[in-house]
Amino acid sequence: MEKHLHMGIKAVIEEFPEIESILTDYDIGCGPCMVGTCLLKDIVSIHSLPKLDEKKLMERIAGVVLNGNDPGKAKPANITKKPVTYSEPMQKLVAEHTLIKRWLALIPQVVEYVDLKTESGKQIINNGIDMIRSYADKFHHAKEEDILFKYFDENAEIIQVMYKDHTNARALVQNMIKALKSENRVLLSESLLAYRDLLQHHIQKEDEILYPWMDRELNKTTLIEMDAKFVEADINSGIKEKKYEDMINDLEKLLP
Ligand SMILES: [Fe+2]
Ligand SMILES: [Fe+2]
Repeated sequence: MEKHLHMGIKAVIEEFPEIESILTDYDIGCGPCMVGTCLLKDIVSIHSLPKLDEKKLMERIAGVVLNGNDPGKAKPANITKKPVTYSEPMQKLVAEHTLIKRWLALIPQVVEYVDLKTESGKQIINNGIDMIRSYADKFHHAKEEDILFKYFDENAEIIQVMYKDHTNARALVQNMIKALKSENRVLLSESLLAYRDLLQHHIQKEDEILYPWMDRELNKTTLIEMDAKFVEADINSGIKEKKYEDMINDLEKLLP
């Protein structure tokens, strides 16, 4: 069992496919990880289940690994999720996600109703792309990449997955710009909807798994230091949140 705790999750699931559905029972979805090298023991600790649930999960995994059968199969998990509380700097990032999610929620209507042939239509797309590049990327992702992630081992898979998401998001923005220039409605729709899907999953991973885990790992002094760095980064970015709040408020009123 000890050997398997120190194996990457992909290799464990390849050897024991049943383990994937056991993890899913506990709301642990390893699908978003593209490499699958997170160690089984780290996956269990990162998700910080209530002690009793963690014990049951480990018993089920051990049952499969050691005896070839899942002792909890007949009685699926009924996990009791603890409400998440965030430290102050993490609360700021979660609040920024909230504004980004309001823009993501509008994308299907934008794709359906905005006419790229009109100046007002182009303006809406331009504003949306500006929000993604300035607010979501320069203001928000920059704090994660330049400050938050630096307090951790950046080669850890959980952080590498986040970097990869940011990189993929930037590539989609390039497609949006190309599509806007050439008035290519299909490419614009595809890239906006793909961005929406990517960022929604990314934000969920951060809110539910990454930030709570990071909060548990960081001590009070570090969190205070990090908060001060966030404030400084916000000032240096020259970006005003209000501008984007206003833009989203207007768009929510405008779109059907
Ligand atoms: Fe992120
Ligand atoms: Fe984020």
